[in-house]
Amino acid sequence: MAASRRAFVLRHTHLRSVPGLEEVRLHLADDVMSLTYAVQVETRDPDAALPYWAFAWAGGLAIGRYLREHPEAVAGRRVFDLASGSGLCAIASMRAGAAQATGVDIDAFATTAIELNARANGRRVTAMRRDVLDAEPPDADVILAGDCWYEARLAARVLPWLHRARDRGIDVLIGDPGRRYLPAAELVELATYDVRTTTELEDLALKQGRVYAMHPAGVTA
Ligand SMILES: C[S@@+](CC[C@H](N)C(=O)[O-])C[C@H]1O[C@@H](n2cnc3c(N)ncnc32)[C@H](O)[C@@H]1O
Repeated sequence: MAASRRAFVLRHTHLRSVPGLEEVRLHLADDVMSLTYAVQVETRDPDAALPYWAFAWAGGLAIGRYLREHPEAVAGRRVFDLASGSGLCAIASMRAGAAQATGVDIDAFATTAIELNARANGRRVTAMRRDVLDAEPPDADVILAGDCWYEARLAARVLPWLHRARDRGIDVLIGDPGRRYLPAAELVELATYDVRTTTELEDLALKQGRVYAMHPAGVTA
């Protein structure tokens, strides 16, 4: 099964540099509709998840840019990339000198993409298929959360989990292009980047991606 997923990802993507983060190469797709259909056929599941893993999302792109400018945020530290998709944030953190990185996603194709993308960048990333949001936060120093606020149900689970992580002393970095469910009052803006994505995913190909930390416990804007 893992081998057929690998073959599927390789068949439906091209390995290429990420716009604005040219030093990172990912297996990326061009057409979300045709790939969604191919996933449905491959999995025999008409409700199969969108192939998020085949795109570099604006939130992840912003985190990648931030880590390139601020490697000290992760250097020598254990990084946990929540909702990792392609593994972009985990790979960017290893490029910035992280001691180790784990990319977690609920989609089996994402874990395959994370492994393939890590290998393509010559970086070691542990890929895990798991929904960690009902579990305790991981044994990590930094959690990266790129583009997690696009859906109410997911946002409602991510926020308390990130609170628990922050309360344990884990640094949290969030990347987001202004999605509807972003909990802005909880966050401190660290940086803004123009990020190039695709109109396959967004209304505009050029978005503003912001990187945030969480306010300390008990503090809101
Ligand atoms: C918009 S993509 C962002 C991917 C990547 N972080 C980036 O910025 O390019 C959101 C990802 O969240 C994943 N996801 C959704 N619910 C999740 C959950 N409960 N736990 C882990 N990942 C989840 C999806 O499968 C998808 O890969």
